[in-house]
Amino acid sequence: MKTFASYLRVIGFMVIAFLLLEFTIDSGDQMAIEKYPVIWGVLSMLFLFAVAIEVISESLRSILYRGLSPEAQEKFLENEKSRKAGQFAGIKRLYNRLAGSKPLEEEGEIVLDHNYDGIRELDNKLPPWWLYGFYITIIFAGVYLARYHIFDGVTTSEEFEIEMEDARLAVEEYKKTAKDLVDVNTVALLTDPADLSAGKAIFTQSCVVCHKADGGGGIGPNLTDEYWILGGGIKNVFNTISEGGRDGKGMVSWKSELKPAEMAQVASYLLTFQGTTPAEPKDPEGEIWVDPDVTPPADEVIEVVVDSTAAEIGMVEN
Ligand code: HEC
Repeated sequence: MKTFASYLRVIGFMVIAFLLLEFTIDSGDQMAIEKYPVIWGVLSMLFLFAVAIEVISESLRSILYRGLSPEAQEKFLENEKSRKAGQFAGIKRLYNRLAGSKPLEEEGEIVLDHNYDGIRELDNKLPPWWLYGFYITIIFAGVYLARYHIFDGVTTSEEFEIEMEDARLAVEEYKKTAKDLVDVNTVALLTDPADLSAGKAIFTQSCVVCHKADGGGGIGPNLTDEYWILGGGIKNVFNTISEGGRDGKGMVSWKSELKPAEMAQVASYLLTFQGTTPAEPKDPEGEIWVDPDVTPPADEVIEVVVDSTAAEIGMVEN
């Protein structure tokens, strides 16, 4: 027994085939149809197949029809007709119920008894779809009020904080897998021996000519002492390697040659020279660099403060 028009059956069949393929083929985050374009081919074949089945069943029916006696043919046609009429009957009935309007023939029951120049008013009921929608909003408002104003549901600003925190964690997670995302703001001293030996290899290849293998300095400054022209510590050193030194001094920018991860490696490696004694150390250049992130022991802090205020107001004699 046919209950749907043939085009609806073909569409339904294609939708089911598509969903089955999507759900049964493991394609990771992508849709299966994107990952395996051959599925387009499979779906096209299935489509032709479905159409062919429809065509065949239609011709079988017409053969059957022609083989019938005239009365039987009439009956057959009648059957068809009532089937067609019944096709969307459920949907039509649902629509009428939701709209809640009275059929034209019954409007006499609800006409109101005033009459202005022949214009009369019908006392129609509110359409049920609207009425129930309204009830739902009332219930929603009650629940909302209770949840956010009586009990302490999260406010929008708290929601914002939570989402930002989630996003921060996600970014951190992502950065762990993508080492090349380091930049001057996020770079941290690497201590992993693998990173340091990679850094050593880069240093040997690109930096030794000017800075010497032991960092003692040549054309470039001594990297083993605590004096820095452009600032010590991983961030400054990373920045110097990435952007280069002062104009015309010979230290070029390396960011087009080295990847961010490599610059972090070589920076971390050359910081291991700190405090070592090279064979031919170059004289210190620049200033002693103190890491502002490291708080010196308490008594030292006091001393520094006293000294500098004393110097400022000219209290230091000798
Ligand atoms: C052509 C020579 C040359 C090469 C090659 C070279 N540098 Fe330099 N480097 C210099 C000079 C000159 C300076 C001083 C720049 C200034 O005074 O502004 C310098 C400064 C530096 C500084 C800052 C030192 C301070 O006191 O602030 C660092 C760090 C550094 N180089 C690292 C490297 C690394 C890592 C490499 C290899 C990837 C490298 N350099 C390759 C010549 C060189």
